[in-house]
Amino acid sequence: NILQRFRLEVQEYLEPFCLSLEKLQEVSARLKRDFSRGLGKHSHHKAPVKMLPTFVRATPDGTEKGDFLALDLGGTNFRVLHVRVVEEQQKVLKMDSQICAIPQDMMLGTGEQLFDHIAACLSDFLVSQDLKGQTLPLGFTFSFPCEQKEIDKSILIRWTKGFNCSGVEGKDVVKLLKEAIHRRGDYDIGSVAMVNDTVGTMMSCGYRDQSCEIGMIIGTGTNACYMEEMKNVKRVEGEDGRMCINTEWGGFGDDGSLKDIQTEFDRVVDKMSINTGVHTFEKMISGMYLGEIVRLVLVKLTEDKLLFKGQSSEALKTPGRFETKFISEIEEQDNGLENAQNILTKLGLKWELVDSRVVRLVCDTISSRSARLCAAALATIANRIRVNRGLDHLKTTVGVDGTVYRKHPNFSDELKATVRLLAPECDITFLVSEDGSGKGAAMVTAVAHKLDSKIGFSVLLKPAIF
Ligand code: GLC
Repeated sequence: NILQRFRLEVQEYLEPFCLSLEKLQEVSARLKRDFSRGLGKHSHHKAPVKMLPTFVRATPDGTEKGDFLALDLGGTNFRVLHVRVVEEQQKVLKMDSQICAIPQDMMLGTGEQLFDHIAACLSDFLVSQDLKGQTLPLGFTFSFPCEQKEIDKSILIRWTKGFNCSGVEGKDVVKLLKEAIHRRGDYDIGSVAMVNDTVGTMMSCGYRDQSCEIGMIIGTGTNACYMEEMKNVKRVEGEDGRMCINTEWGGFGDDGSLKDIQTEFDRVVDKMSINTGVHTFEKMISGMYLGEIVRLVLVKLTEDKLLFKGQSSEALKTPGRFETKFISEIEEQDNGLENAQNILTKLGLKWELVDSRVVRLVCDTISSRSARLCAAALATIANRIRVNRGLDHLKTTVGVDGTVYRKHPNFSDELKATVRLLAPECDITFLVSEDGSGKGAAMVTAVAHKLDSKIGFSVLLKPAIF
């Protein structure tokens, strides 16, 4: 049968994407070593996995309250939110929110333009909410690697994903935001808390489930945070309790440690990206890159006459035209093949049934690798927490968010199944975060604000929770 013959030939191209359990265990062992390097006082400067202290020392205890603003930059959209934390009902309410587009050229322009735009969006929102006279505390979900000095001092290490604005790397993002607001002079904000999206996600789930001590994002980018023992966080003073660490696992492999599993397609994706050589792991996993990997494989299969009778199209040859959301549509259980056919037609390709099947197989292979690599990384964290606490068995919860995790039909199942195999001593509950970047940021701000009024930012909460 033609399909089987094709399958065999196509399989050869896909083989490098199929990672065995042993390989994933190896990957996990390498990440484990990199976690230690990132946490070490003398090794962290050169570590590819940065393990950044977040100055979040506990999850909410349910006594936080008030009105907050939240900004969310670094995911699919830039958003401004008004969030109310209600103590009695143990609830975080999103009062209203607004999406502001950030044009592509602004993502690559100057930092001043970017922050002026953010300040302008916030101004419009405050007017529409009739909040301009108030000075509300603000949680800033800024989903990029930052060296945090305090909860309200956060220095951008480098841009990732689609951003590359000049004059921001090495600077304090809170200062840049405040300067932009002062340049306008038409409103002011209260204290600011800087939050990575992983931390917001963990915190927003922590309000519902106090054993939530991992936050994970699989969206435009990928990353995770978790609660680490203070005694292992050598860069911050103090030995007691725990602190949330933003792993920035997207940078795993930046020292060449993943060379053996990188394919020729991964190398092209990296080369064509705006940040060549960095965020190697992320480029094999996250939504910003998955579509492009699939496209490159399809181009190659077409060149070698294994697809579309060797006839390509302008669209297929154009970077970015095969969107990551197509993968989810093509892998849909019931309508997947039909979706594939419609997409191929839209891309100007002449297909036969077998082509649509092959395309589906390619999508399945690439998304599967992504899910399994995430599983290896998550297993590394879960095992680390377990060993930290001297437990034979760990029961824990991970708060998750991101378009790839949410929208792909079988990504989460594959991820969960693989984690079970790689971390058999850990029983992990997955909780999809409800707007972690917005509500979670408000939570962190609420916690910080509450502490601020008593003893100053970034001091211990209820360590008893963990
Ligand atoms: C990128 C960023 C990281 C963020 C992740 C998910 O990896 O560097 O800070 O958490 O994307 O948005």
